[in-house]
Amino acid sequence: MNKTSNFEFDDLQGLLRFGHGKLTDTCFLLLNIADVDAAKQWLSAAPITDASTTDTLPDTALQIAFSVEGLRTLKLRESVIEGFSDEFIVGMTGDESRSRRLGDVDDNTPSKWEWGGSETAVPHVLLLLYARQGELDHWRTTVEGEHFAEAFHLLSQLPTQSINDIEPFGFVDGISQPTIDWMQKQSTDIHERDRYSNLLAPGEMVLGYPNEYGHYTPRPLIDPQEDRLAAELPDAEDEPRLKDLGRNGTYLVIRQLSQDVPGFWRFLDKEAASDADRREQIATAMVGRERNGTPLIAEHIPGIAAEDHGNNFTFDLDPKGNHCPIGAHIRRANPRTGDFPPGVTGLFSRLIKILGFAQAPEEDLIASSRFHRLLRRGRSYGSVLSPEDAVKPDAPAGDRGIQFICLVANISRQFEFVQNAWMVNSKFGGVQNERGPLVGHRKPLIDGQSTDHFNRPDAAGTMRTVCHLPQFVTVRGGGYFFMPGLRALKYIAATPTNGRDSAS
Ligand code: HEM
Repeated sequence: MNKTSNFEFDDLQGLLRFGHGKLTDTCFLLLNIADVDAAKQWLSAAPITDASTTDTLPDTALQIAFSVEGLRTLKLRESVIEGFSDEFIVGMTGDESRSRRLGDVDDNTPSKWEWGGSETAVPHVLLLLYARQGELDHWRTTVEGEHFAEAFHLLSQLPTQSINDIEPFGFVDGISQPTIDWMQKQSTDIHERDRYSNLLAPGEMVLGYPNEYGHYTPRPLIDPQEDRLAAELPDAEDEPRLKDLGRNGTYLVIRQLSQDVPGFWRFLDKEAASDADRREQIATAMVGRERNGTPLIAEHIPGIAAEDHGNNFTFDLDPKGNHCPIGAHIRRANPRTGDFPPGVTGLFSRLIKILGFAQAPEEDLIASSRFHRLLRRGRSYGSVLSPEDAVKPDAPAGDRGIQFICLVANISRQFEFVQNAWMVNSKFGGVQNERGPLVGHRKPLIDGQSTDHFNRPDAAGTMRTVCHLPQFVTVRGGGYFFMPGLRALKYIAATPTNGRDSAS
């Protein structure tokens, strides 16, 4: 194994370490298993890209992930499947309360999705192919090779298109990502981590390693005495007697999010009385960054824009959201708080906070960000439509959006928490009656109160409210998948198809 740190990078799928950004052409396939034996044969030889580095960047990449239905179809024993997290087993659309919490209501309701909308419609396999421009067809032919046509039934090929890191509303995307502490040097001790840090314990993203609580996230552990195939799996660090099917794997969350680009810019244009500068101001306030990616907080912290791609900042100097509104997309997605709110440095103040006294209203739900980070790996789709063209009455229609993908070790604490408590909640950080301006639905509360507002104080603190915000983003599909490490993939491919344990 290649060990530049403690990490077995050649057992990790590359997507955990690299975004494959230079591989502009992509093809995301949703597959069902048609023939289990043929599928296992294909899987055992599939050219999956690992995360070890070479001097030259690869020209192609292939990653794979399975839904729980896929693992069951491949005859992974139920006693092993039980080791995965509940939300993975139940699935994204498995119960109504989860759909409500994720904001999958009204136009986002799973029954209206194009794929993944019911338990039976969840694809077994998600195959992600990446290639340099013009090389995708050749790569796909190579990948499919023998057994593929017999093994899998293609449910659909998700639309993707390279539009140079610009998402369809026109903003640079993919700037802020957590940095994984591959060398495992940073302490997770609460007493040593009172400030926001972008560096995260590997166990937040990769299964089988300590997370930000210093604990191991639950995943299937197998006794090699009872299952001889498991002998090839990595050891479980926390239970050395057992083998770890999760280690070097992760959960992959995917949501196809359709964006109404003309609707977004036309609404803002009307709101700005067709003043292009004002239109741009409202849009940047909703995102929290300018279209070129500069954070709105930038002018208040000299030098940050040039450093770390404009990502080395917190909102500590802007507690009321006068520069970057509290409800802005990037502020909801990552409030950049440490374990203690700004200014809490003394031992006495910390004690008061730990005991829960003196909590200001704006601190509601803005929990310490380090437990709720996402490694985003999505791609956009649809033709480019500039804001200037989008406002024209004859702007071309067309389906545009994001294949939102994030990798997390804990679906409920990371993706579901961010989506529910931060993105679609109508109360966030002291603001009320508004949901995420980009991704929120606009359903009123049970008592009839509306949620279609967006509040943005100006620099002097005067509140400006945008009312009757339409829903700009609609969910078209989604699911929870397990992206195994390479040895785990070999194990999955080798499990016997007669459903019996492989005990010797
Ligand atoms: C169509 C829907 C979406 C659009 C157009 C969109 C767009 C953007 C843009 C322009 C940025 C700023 C650039 C960057 O830091 O990468 C951003 C950041 C981010 N978005 Fe989204 N996004 C969408 C959906 C989502 C969803 C559903 C989530 C999570 C549930 C999410 C989570 C994040 C996170 C975590 C960041 C980084 C925040 C930070 O650390 O500063 N986004 N998004």
